[in-house]
Amino acid sequence: MTSRTTSGIDLFTDDAIHDPYGLYRELRDLGPAVWLDEHEVWCLSRYEEVRDALVGWETYSSAEGVALNDPTNETLRGTTIASDPPLHDHLRSIVGERLTPRAVRSMRDAVEAQADELVERLVTQGSFDAVGDLARALPMAIVPDMLGWPEDIRPRLLEWAAAGFDTMGPLTERVQPALAKRHELFAYTSELARSGDLVPGTLGADILGAADRGEIRPDECPALLLDYLVPALDTTISAISTSVWLFGRHPDQWDAVRADPTLIPKAFNEALRLESPVRGFSRVATCDVEIEEATIACGDRVLLLFASANRDERRWDDPERFDVTRDAAGHVAFGYGIHGCAGQGLARLEGHAVLAALARRVARFDVGTPRHITNSMIRALSELPVTVRT
Ligand code: HEM
Repeated sequence: MTSRTTSGIDLFTDDAIHDPYGLYRELRDLGPAVWLDEHEVWCLSRYEEVRDALVGWETYSSAEGVALNDPTNETLRGTTIASDPPLHDHLRSIVGERLTPRAVRSMRDAVEAQADELVERLVTQGSFDAVGDLARALPMAIVPDMLGWPEDIRPRLLEWAAAGFDTMGPLTERVQPALAKRHELFAYTSELARSGDLVPGTLGADILGAADRGEIRPDECPALLLDYLVPALDTTISAISTSVWLFGRHPDQWDAVRADPTLIPKAFNEALRLESPVRGFSRVATCDVEIEEATIACGDRVLLLFASANRDERRWDDPERFDVTRDAAGHVAFGYGIHGCAGQGLARLEGHAVLAALARRVARFDVGTPRHITNSMIRALSELPVTVRT
């Protein structure tokens, strides 16, 4: 006899996207596994269950895609993110060398110099947009070069990457135009893989090289190229701009970081915990799973709500408090387990470099009213006016 706790909560309305945290708490309080009637998907919103599901890839498969709709999952076929072992491990190893801690360390001096120069210029200016002027600069300077994408297409990358995340949710009317953009990006990437027009010596060229050596099939190249573009931009941009927003509202926490800059890695983790850029991704159950009184049936889709797990009061003391001394390293903002973010070393490098450069120069952030983007799966600011005091 199966039973299910159900909820009519719709996490994908504009209001829910802009103000989700009360809804996450309601879902956590309803039970460890809740069936969302509106989109016919299970939702795991508590920390323990989300983390268990991330570890248990044999039970919670990514192979049928991690989005909440079929057309998007179709375009994810052949990506690292949408595969299970052994294919997953093979695909991840193709460009793994480029993102190892050693490889990321070798980029450190250059990234820190870029962050320093950028922050110096913005601080001299006095007022700026923490999204457009500050947070976008490093990811946009680093990621397209690392991937080797042609120069002429780079102005479109942010728009395409945002559409990539928007289409990870249900296909509501709002998301339809983003789906068209996702297909456009997919078509462009297929053509790019076919023409081989990627800068030599880059991660993108490595992927084509793997196909030349017969390690992957040529038709697997477009998906792998997308794997490292879509998740690498808006996520990091969100983390950096949100950190500034948090420090603007919590000057005591900024004072603590300035007094002891070794707190920066903890502070960045804490910002990722509290304002997780990726709301969640989904899996498909490969067998019946019992979670307390709920039975998730084999074949059901299950949304893992990372952003809710990171505020679960069962796991975190006073979870809504921003505390840079908290040990937030166990957050699941980068996922966890075999699909744990492949680019987290790079994201941390960029985030730490910007915060360190700011800590050396800025005493206070006077933040204006932020605007959030409306996106199904990524929480991010579109604009944050800031005036800094040195
Ligand atoms: C703050 C920035 C970032 C956040 C919050 C973030 C978040 C995530 C999350 C939650 C996952 C897990 C997906 C799942 O379990 O289904 C993931 C996977 C992934 N991320 Fe990131 N990401 C960030 C930056 C990056 C960057 C900079 C890159 C590329 C350079 C990147 C590349 C990837 C890839 C390739 C995967 C798939 C890994 C796999 O399936 O094995 N991410 N990311």
